[in-house]
Amino acid sequence: LKWCPNSDLQAQRRLARTTFATKAQAINKTLHAAPTSVESFSSIQDERRERAERSVLISCPPKINERKILDYLSKHGDIRNYFFYQTYGMYAVVEFSSKESIAALKGSCTIPSVQHEASVPFKSRLLSLKWTGSIGPTTVKCHEQLPISINELIQQLSEQESIDQQMQCLTEAYQLTEENISLRFLVCSLLRDIAAAYFPESIIRPFGSTVNSFGKLGCDLDMFLDLDGVSVQNQRKGSGLSLEYQVKRGASERNVTQSILSVIGECVDQFSPGCVGVQKILNARVPLVRFSHQPSGFQCDLTANNRVAMKSTELLYVYGSLDARVRYLVFTVRCWARVHGITSGIPGAWITNFSLTVLVLFFLQQRTPAVLPTLDQLRDLAEKLLQEFFEFYGSFAFNRSSINIRKGREQNKPEAAALYIQNPFETSLNVSKNVNATQLERFVALCRESAWLLQQGEVLKRSATPSADQIPPWGLAALLLPSVAESAGVKGRRKKKREPASERIKTLLQSLKSSRGGAGEKQSSD
Ligand code: GTP
Ligand code: MG
Repeated sequence: LKWCPNSDLQAQRRLARTTFATKAQAINKTLHAAPTSVESFSSIQDERRERAERSVLISCPPKINERKILDYLSKHGDIRNYFFYQTYGMYAVVEFSSKESIAALKGSCTIPSVQHEASVPFKSRLLSLKWTGSIGPTTVKCHEQLPISINELIQQLSEQESIDQQMQCLTEAYQLTEENISLRFLVCSLLRDIAAAYFPESIIRPFGSTVNSFGKLGCDLDMFLDLDGVSVQNQRKGSGLSLEYQVKRGASERNVTQSILSVIGECVDQFSPGCVGVQKILNARVPLVRFSHQPSGFQCDLTANNRVAMKSTELLYVYGSLDARVRYLVFTVRCWARVHGITSGIPGAWITNFSLTVLVLFFLQQRTPAVLPTLDQLRDLAEKLLQEFFEFYGSFAFNRSSINIRKGREQNKPEAAALYIQNPFETSLNVSKNVNATQLERFVALCRESAWLLQQGEVLKRSATPSADQIPPWGLAALLLPSVAESAGVKGRRKKKREPASERIKTLLQSLKSSRGGAGEKQSSD
């Protein structure tokens, strides 16, 4: 009764273990055999969706006996997987071996009778377990659905042996777990039950960081209502006669999308248990319904007809599977940017995680590929990537050049925009149109300061003091300490690449030096 290991994560780990030569071959194969990788991406998603359809989400009493619950639920069918987690209360995700078990389980559920209020008799797969007997010992292992705190992360990073290990450690601490991804697919499946009232063949598919392999625990759940299955054309041969549905027509595709989302949004608001704070944002460039799904704790964005976003999700997934270092660098740069307020949870002029990921991919496309490096060279390469990333964007000609990952090169900006990243699928659009000059300047200033910091010998060395909880932040951990470049801000833009360190960095370097009893590397001057 354990979750099967995540097949694509396993594949990534396998890939990470191969030699550089095999890796290069794998990259070539993936690039030249795109249909195979496309198939595997969609088949992974299909399998997860099918498992979610055989699953239920159960709110449990706070003190529970796992064995008793499983014995009780098993009466309705064979349980294949399950796990418990805690958000606003204790919940269990239970996956049965067959859909028939769900029907049997639902057959034994009752609609609660509530005093003074009335309940909407919608029979969803979000259930509550009531317990009237004796509880017995609490024997439940809860799976964490949120990332560790930044302080805990800095502590864990400081204990690693190299920056390479720090980046891997950060990725492993932050990435979505198999359980969390299953819960995301289950939420999509629960919402699909609502949409199915109007469109029985519809599918609600997650996209964005839930499935592109760059998702961090706690990230939002982006979904789109896929109606392609509804409008499949059947060509009838023979008699020359055919029937078609009479349909209501809208003024434009956008108009129809808005109507569908408006109605589904209303149903989610009125009938779907657990969905709160429903907002219909139908006039946005991509119309959406935004809400919180309380039992899972996910902030949800539901769109419709969003095929392009699905394509870019798949593209990122393919890039992430080519080489383990891609994900390490993306997770690291995203974390660094979030800590320093380069990205934000609030919409605005900030660089988005998506734009930031494209910046990393573009940077990786610009590396000169090394041919058969030794193991030592490979390790150095991994450590250097982070520093070179900061150097690359710290001196990139954002004022005149745009970023094009379709061609893998920079081009003249087609129009005035602080940051111009060409959308790889809709090539006339700028992915980072929202970013203003101030936000870009902050990004560049922080890149320069972080690059400078990584050039300092002191920062690159882990303290020799073996006392586990006293290791001062070093390497990546030092880069994540708060507000490194705030004071550099706009001023930093006009300075040379190796600008003076802020007072805070000087203090940090000083403390690293003294923690090694003054026996560290030569101290760099400003
Ligand atoms: P986080 O939610 O921040 O973890 O990352 P995310 O990749 O999920 O980003 P977000 O939720 O902002 O957007 C979801 C997906 O929509 C992205 O992964 C992209 O596929 C797509 N997307 C987001 N912003 C843009 C944009 O400006 N242009 C285009 N074409 N697609 C975008
Ligand atoms: Mg997202």
